[in-house]
Amino acid sequence: MSDGSPDTRILCIGAGYVGGPTMAVIAAKCPDVKVTVVDINPERIARWNSDRLPIYEPGLDGVVREARGRNLFFSTDIEAGIREADIIFVSVNTPTKTFGTGAGMAADLQYWEKTARQIRECADTPKVIVEKSTLPVKTAQAMKRIFDAGDHENRFTVLSNPEFLAEGTAVNDLENPDRVLIGSDETSAGIHARDRLVDIYARWVPRDRILTTNIWSSELSKLVSNAFLAQRISSVNAISALCEKTDADITEVTRAVGMDSRLGNRFLNASVGFGGSCFKKDILNLVYLCRFYGLNEVADYWEGVVHINNYQKERFVVNMLGQMFHTLSGKRICLFGFAFKAHTGDTRESPGIFIAKRLIEEQAELIVTDPQALESARRDLADAEGRVQYTEDPYTAAAGAEAIALITEWPEYASLDYERIFQSMVHPSFIFDGRNLLDHRRLHEIGFNVFPIGMPALTHFHEEHDMRA
Ligand SMILES: NC(=O)c1ccc[n+]([C@@H]2O[C@H](COP(=O)([O-])OP(=O)(O)OC[C@H]3O[C@@H](n4cnc5c(N)ncnc54)[C@H](O)[C@@H]3O)[C@@H](O)[C@H]2O)c1
Repeated sequence: MSDGSPDTRILCIGAGYVGGPTMAVIAAKCPDVKVTVVDINPERIARWNSDRLPIYEPGLDGVVREARGRNLFFSTDIEAGIREADIIFVSVNTPTKTFGTGAGMAADLQYWEKTARQIRECADTPKVIVEKSTLPVKTAQAMKRIFDAGDHENRFTVLSNPEFLAEGTAVNDLENPDRVLIGSDETSAGIHARDRLVDIYARWVPRDRILTTNIWSSELSKLVSNAFLAQRISSVNAISALCEKTDADITEVTRAVGMDSRLGNRFLNASVGFGGSCFKKDILNLVYLCRFYGLNEVADYWEGVVHINNYQKERFVVNMLGQMFHTLSGKRICLFGFAFKAHTGDTRESPGIFIAKRLIEEQAELIVTDPQALESARRDLADAEGRVQYTEDPYTAAAGAEAIALITEWPEYASLDYERIFQSMVHPSFIFDGRNLLDHRRLHEIGFNVFPIGMPALTHFHEEHDMRA
C-alpha cells in the first residue's frame, strides 16, 4: 500500500480543537484517504456528526460538510478505528497535572498513556503513531517502551508532528501553514514512516515548508514556539505598565520597535494578558523540564513569562478598582467578550475568567456578553450563580452598567453605537479597554472615562483622580 492510494486509512484519537479541524482539512485535501476521528466523549462525536459542530472556527463548517460521509467519519468506536488504520494520530488533551509530583507544572500524560496502551492492545498490523498532542520532550521514548513491551516489538513507529494552528484561524492555518514539522528516528523504519507522512502533507503544503528533524527537536520545538509567542506578549505587557506610569503610549513604542526588521511588527499588541489552553500549560511544562534537568536559571527565566501574565491580569482589576473610587461593591460591570481571543468560543484560561472572579470577589454585579462563548462562560462561572447575568446583545449588557471592561477583541465591539450605550449607562461611565480595540478619543468625546492598556487615560475628572491605582 502506498500513501495517496485509495486505501490509506488515517485514524485520529481525540476529536477536540486540534483533532477535529486537522483531520477535516486532511480529508478535504486528500479525498482518496479515509479519515476517521474517534473520541471517548459521545456527545462530542454526536455534535461532529450534526449541523452544530462542537467548536466554533471560521470556515470549519464548510470543510467538514465537504468531506463528512465521503472520506471523513466521526465515531466512538475507538477499537475498530485502531484495527483498521495504518496511520494513527493521537490528539488527546495533555493538561497541566493537578496532583502529585509536578502538580501545577508538569503535563498530565494519563490520557496519552491510556491511548498508547489501547493502541497496543487492539492493533494487529503495523502502525505509524503520530504524536499530534503537545508533549514533553522525550515522550516518544516512553511511548516506544510501552509499544515494544511483550511481543509487540517493531510493530509501531512513532513520529512527532506537533500542531501549530491558532484557534480562531485554524482552518486557514491548516490550509496554509507557515511550516509542518515532522520528527522521526533516523532508523529506516523511522525514515519510511516520516516519508509517508510527508507525502500526505505535500498534497497541499509546499515541500520547502515541510521540515523534517530528529524526534526530540520536533517535540521540543512546539514547546519553544509557544514559549516564544507568550514571551512576546509578556514583554509588551510588561512595558505597557511602564508606559502607564510615564505617559508613553505603548502603540507608539511598539510601532517604533516593530519597524526593526530583526523584530518584526506582528504580535506586539498590549492586552489584558494571554489565555488559551496552551501558552501557560506549555511554558510550565518547559519550566518543569528545565528544573528536571537541573537548569534552574533557565526555568526561572521562562517562569517569568507566566508571572508577568498573572501580574497583567491582576493589574487590570486593581486599576478598575482604583479608578472607580476604590469600591466595586454592588456596581454593575459589563464584560465585553469572554473568549480568550476573537473568533473562537473557547474560554480555556481566558483572562475573562480571572477578571470575572476577582470582580465578583469585590462584590460587583457582572453581566457578560460574547457572540460565541456564553455557553462556556456559564460553565466557567457556575460557582458564581446569581452574581452574573449573560446576554448576547452588547446593548442590553451595557444598559444600567457603571463600567465596561473589554476582554476580547471581537471586531464588532469597535463599531457599536457608543452614544447609545453611554446614554443607557450609569454616570460617570467607565470603559477599560483590555485590548486597545476602541476609538478612545471618540469615546472620551461622548463622555466616557477611558482607560486603555499602556496609554494615558482619557477622563473627565480633575487631575488627582487620573492617577493610576
Ligand atoms: N487547542 C489548540 O489551539 C492547540 C494547538 C496546538 C496543539 N494543541 C495540543 O493538542 C492537544 C489536544 O488539544 P485540544 O485543544 O484539541 O484538546 P481538547 O480537550 O479539545 O480535545 C482532546 C479530546 O481528546 C479526547 N480524549 C481524551 N482521552 C481520550 C482517550 N483515551 N481516547 C479517546 N479520546 C480521548 C477528549 O475527550 C477530547 O475530546 C493538546 O496536547 C494541546 O496542547 C492544542
